[in-house]
Amino acid sequence: MTGIEELLTSRIRDVADYPEPGVMFKDITPLLADPAAFGALTGALAEIAVRNGATKIVGLEARGFILGAPVAVHAGIGFIPVRKAGKLPGATLSQAYDLEYGSAEIEVHAEDLGAADRVLVVDDVLATGGTAEASLQLIRRAGAEVAGVAVLMELGFLGGRGRLEPALAGAPLEAL
Ligand code: PRP
Repeated sequence: MTGIEELLTSRIRDVADYPEPGVMFKDITPLLADPAAFGALTGALAEIAVRNGATKIVGLEARGFILGAPVAVHAGIGFIPVRKAGKLPGATLSQAYDLEYGSAEIEVHAEDLGAADRVLVVDDVLATGGTAEASLQLIRRAGAEVAGVAVLMELGFLGGRGRLEPALAGAPLEAL
């Protein structure tokens, strides 16, 4: 592991049986509370944004907001929230996606993204990849280009990377 990987990993707390029995929850609140770790994380994500020529950061509700907003400020580009359905006041584009049981829907303000934009999606965790995949579909439907997806951690055993591949269409998925 590199120094930053060790630092970030050491600040993520495993919580057994949360939010339900059998699930090991990855709690990032210790990382957020440590300015050295939080700064290293947001700096590394901003470097990914700059390296991939992003002109906007899309953050996925809710933990993607906490990470994505400082990344956008570091990189000197705009921040666009992708929210769970029903939270944005203006005209929106919506994208439904399947969960293990049932479905979910995310939205973005239609006016926030357009043909001039190259967008990096930022979130804390890539699990099944459903949320990130739906966000890439929203970005493309808005006419914008995908610069990539950048996450703190990837739960490889859930196969999110494979699910995301078609929607990425060659753009990078980077997990720190
Ligand atoms: C978590 C996580 C990602 C998503 C990953 O958010 O922060 O956004 O799930 O899962 P997936 O790859 O299987 O789609 P959650 O929906 O729990 O929302 P929250 O951040 O508002 O708690």
